[in-house]
Amino acid sequence: MQTFSDIASLREQIKQYKREGRNIAFVPTMGNLHEGHLTLMRKAHEEGDIVVASIFVNPLQFDRADDLNSYPRTLDDDLNKLNGEGVDLVFTPTPEIIYPNGLDKQTFVEVPGLSHMLEGAARPGHFRGVATILTKLFNIVQPDVACFGEKDFQQLAVIRQMVEDLAMDIEIIGVPIVRELDGLAMSSRNNLLTVAERQLAPVLARTMRWMSSAMRNGRDDYASIAEDASDQLRAADLIPDQIFIRDAKTLQPISETTTQAVILISAYLGHVRLIDNQVLDFSVESKPSQEEE
Ligand code: PAF
Repeated sequence: MQTFSDIASLREQIKQYKREGRNIAFVPTMGNLHEGHLTLMRKAHEEGDIVVASIFVNPLQFDRADDLNSYPRTLDDDLNKLNGEGVDLVFTPTPEIIYPNGLDKQTFVEVPGLSHMLEGAARPGHFRGVATILTKLFNIVQPDVACFGEKDFQQLAVIRQMVEDLAMDIEIIGVPIVRELDGLAMSSRNNLLTVAERQLAPVLARTMRWMSSAMRNGRDDYASIAEDASDQLRAADLIPDQIFIRDAKTLQPISETTTQAVILISAYLGHVRLIDNQVLDFSVESKPSQEEE
């Protein structure tokens, strides 16, 4: 495994692979790698001849300085894990390499609509930061395919839209959520939980499962389902953040044309914001109505 922190030498190596006719599968990460990330690396191996990963905690996508500063950074451990997965190249730039003119002077990429609703409304600038860093990383790595976890459901929708709108020649592959045995979706942020918070954390997935079974049992009062879920989270000492039931394709409220719904749920445990989601197929699960949450 080769590790690069500068753009020019990484590009040179990738050009060499491309000259040899090998295709490139890319997995961008912010490090603190867990089994969910390693699943992405395995998927990338299935999709490409050469697997490139990046580790970069992107300051442009954090709306809170404390969140950026406390984001877990575990580079040595991450590199060992990537080596164990047979990753070929790892890009580990510093913020100065990625944003040499500073964050304020950086050209940015914005996906309108999708970026400003739901999580984007709660975290101003977040998806602009994600779209911008990914455009930059895609330009550097020039991948044929790129793999992303489905846990960040809205992020994946933003990325797909960006790639389509900007005619980027990259296949975007979504990889299902990997869960702990108690149902908690794997996330780098789980490492920030105290022991007591970690014990409470699976309530988020449990509440989401309760919502999906309510819908499967025919409830279509989406606003009330979300309110009931909020109450359940509060009763378990989680602080509900956002709970939405939306059309999985458009992220708009459920309508008569909805064929798949998605439950998007987030809550705070202390300072840590946890997210989860579940897609429900309306053709087999339940019947849509037009009520908004
Ligand atoms: O999902 C993440 O880890 C980040 O948002 C990403 C896609 C690596 C961009 O910084």
